[in-house]
Amino acid sequence: MNLAERDLQVIWHPYTQMQTAQPPIPIVRGEGTCLYTEDGTKYIDAISSWWVNIHGHSHPYIAKKIAEQLLQLEHVIFAGFTHHGAVELAERLLAILPSNQAKAFYSDNGSTAIEVAIKMCLQYWHNKGQQRTKIIAFKNAYHGDTFGAMSVSGRSAFTAAFDSLLFEVEFIDLPNNSNIEALKSQISHLKSQISSFIFEPLVQGSAGMIMYEAKYLDELMAHCRKEGVLMIDDEVFTGFGRTGKPFACNHLQTQPDIMCFSKGLTGGTMAFGLTTCTQEIYNAFLSDDKMKTLFHGHSYTANPVACAAGLASLDLFLDASTQKNIDRIAARHTVFADKIKGHKSLKTTRQTGTILAMEWETGNNTSYFSGLRDKLYYYFLNKGIILRPLGNIIYILPPYCITDTELDYIYTTVEQALNEI
Ligand SMILES: Cc1ncc(COP(=O)(O)O)c(C=O)c1O
Repeated sequence: MNLAERDLQVIWHPYTQMQTAQPPIPIVRGEGTCLYTEDGTKYIDAISSWWVNIHGHSHPYIAKKIAEQLLQLEHVIFAGFTHHGAVELAERLLAILPSNQAKAFYSDNGSTAIEVAIKMCLQYWHNKGQQRTKIIAFKNAYHGDTFGAMSVSGRSAFTAAFDSLLFEVEFIDLPNNSNIEALKSQISHLKSQISSFIFEPLVQGSAGMIMYEAKYLDELMAHCRKEGVLMIDDEVFTGFGRTGKPFACNHLQTQPDIMCFSKGLTGGTMAFGLTTCTQEIYNAFLSDDKMKTLFHGHSYTANPVACAAGLASLDLFLDASTQKNIDRIAARHTVFADKIKGHKSLKTTRQTGTILAMEWETGNNTSYFSGLRDKLYYYFLNKGIILRPLGNIIYILPPYCITDTELDYIYTTVEQALNEI
């Protein structure tokens, strides 16, 4: 049996329908933007492997730092003990986050970063003796696959089997010019019951790269601040340059109370999660009363190897060449979006920073499960490009090291697809 056949025997892949599963493609090596199979077939990773890989695959600098850390200290319990990498990463990140972010809580991935944020908010009010258990979230939001994260995500085919078990959340529309006053009234009306408002800033990734204006989010956030509603800014996807600025909140005036990170945090090398919060939130847990403790911790919390990867990725991220690459990709996306505008197969394009989404014209069938999704997926795969459509929406979200030649190849192939599919 080859590797793909052995895989089918023993592996349960995420988001895969088992009866119709195609054998997975075995990858043996990654370098820069590309992934390679055993026989040397090359794929351009145009979606940064589920949006995590910001500096390219197997980056030698991150690899070196990880290797050094492994020989120094691979892990230590993070209760009662600490280590250099955890402290330095927190110090360096807090220094570039909004000025009100004061404390860092490590976990394992994006979903756990969200779980921690939700628990911080709910227990903040509990510790203050107030019954505020409602959470506000946007319709179609996606915040992860664990139960708390699923609860604050829009109800969909992905949550259907669990809907009756998810806690109640007040779902609101994305803010715009015509509904902003109504949304503010809704929040004011519910404020005494609301613990927090959670959002994906500027771009709802999994919903289909749905984009909305910073201006209205800012207005909603300012209103939450006025009404004493805590704000959770989920930057698991948008963090580390995706929207053109280091963090999506850099497009906003109002500072969130809590921020969540994962994906780009380690440049796509290690599973890692981070939740940051204000001193005010932290203070609500500071007490001699043991019942005020945030009882949350994972075995691998603040794993030193993940911290080393985070620090190395941050070094690369803060290098001037990275911001130049982000600006270059964003500018080239804009030119390409302009070029294909009005194509008969295209319903619309939208862009925020390095994220370019293109929505295929499908008439009424826009389902995530539409046949078009698979057609597009395999079309690009056969041309050596990994794009993973969300229904009829394809998006280009490359590592920042992608070359102009690679981008041109992707753009040309998208144009061919528009003409052929
Ligand atoms: C905005 C957002 N939040 C949370 C998550 C969950 O992250 P993870 O897949 O690491 O659990 C995701 C994953 O795509 C996401 O896009």
